[in-house]
Amino acid sequence: MYWDKLSHEQINTKIEEALNDNLSYRKEKILGVPASYLDEEQFYDDAPFLENSPFLKTLIANPNHIGCHTLGGEAEPFFKGTQKIENELIELCAEEILGGGKGQQDGYVAPGGTEANIQAIWIYRNYFIKEFGAQSNEITVVYSQDSHYSMPKGANILNIKSIVLDVDYSTRMIVQEDLEHKLKQAQDTGVKYFIVVMNMSTTMFGSVDDINRVSEYLDENKLHYKIHIDGAFGGFIYPFTNDSSSYSFKNDRISSFTLDGHKMLQSPYGTGVFIIRKGFMDYALTEEASYVQGKDYTICGSRSGANAVALWMILKTHGSDGLKVKMRNLTAKAASVCSQLTKMGVEFYQNPYLNIVTMRGNYVSAHLAKKYALVPDSHNNDPNWYKIVVMDHVKKGVLDSFLMELKAELNSKN
Ligand SMILES: Cc1ncc(COP(=O)(O)O)c(C=O)c1O
Repeated sequence: MYWDKLSHEQINTKIEEALNDNLSYRKEKILGVPASYLDEEQFYDDAPFLENSPFLKTLIANPNHIGCHTLGGEAEPFFKGTQKIENELIELCAEEILGGGKGQQDGYVAPGGTEANIQAIWIYRNYFIKEFGAQSNEITVVYSQDSHYSMPKGANILNIKSIVLDVDYSTRMIVQEDLEHKLKQAQDTGVKYFIVVMNMSTTMFGSVDDINRVSEYLDENKLHYKIHIDGAFGGFIYPFTNDSSSYSFKNDRISSFTLDGHKMLQSPYGTGVFIIRKGFMDYALTEEASYVQGKDYTICGSRSGANAVALWMILKTHGSDGLKVKMRNLTAKAASVCSQLTKMGVEFYQNPYLNIVTMRGNYVSAHLAKKYALVPDSHNNDPNWYKIVVMDHVKKGVLDSFLMELKAELNSKN
């Protein structure tokens, strides 16, 4: 993994050039597009700070990135400058971060991790239907109980079944016997096609599914499957902290990834990333999108080009080395919290390559959880777990005061 960092001037110039390659609602004759630059009363484009703010400039110019531009061909020509930035971004994520071959992946900037996950499930459902004549009730999505709720949401929207795999309470790893039992049971009831979602970090624990063990089982039993990786949380940290990860396009059992800039990259909301091996986007083609040049292959349709620009700018500002340092600092900070918790005898879960520390609920009072905005595993009952997510704003001083208060609470209990 390597890419250079760029200076603010270089980034500014590049985005300026991209905007100049777009058609400008202000300067050109554009009669047929049902959109314009942003409302001038609220978003005036002569504010002096815009000169040095390529993201805000793009936001105001309001380019639409509808469709999937890595497919080449004749995508909407109006915004080709910033669409090229999006293509560069997808290429960088696919090839540098996820180890894909040169020009071997397609993708787009999605509204978030939820859409990117559902886009994957949609594509594989259509693939099984189109290529193998599968019926909806012969297709199932398989994921662990710690997976994000976008998986049941996707299965519900797409009218296919779900298999939810148990995880071990302490290790948060998928229980092998449960996997074997549930997949056999599904086959006995006529399921033939498996859309398997593996977590390159779960939301609550930062646990990373044991993809080698699961995919070996699928292969040994000659199951018909496609594997999608939910890297919405971990996608912009795990590849930077774990040099020997199995989660990359070098692993030919993996077909697609979700990443999410608006978590670890601190980009604005609307910066999910969907990346898939070439040859699959066609299964999400909506032929009826006849007014869109280049058609549409996404769930969302219209989307702002400013989001792609924001992601591209952040990745280029830090460079790969800068992000490695940043992400490793976060995991180091999480590790230091863990060593304090261990000294206090508090039970917790932490994956050393991730920045989440999840404490057993019985050690933390509701008062402390509220004071430090810890997130519980469930808002319904007494939580089993509370998590700390060590992000940029989580300063050592605040962590220290939390740990001191926790220690005082535990001492007073004993
Ligand atoms: C593992 C995982 N997948 C998917 C999502 C959904 O992402 P979004 O909220 O961007 O749609 C999240 C969000 O927390 C997540 O942690």
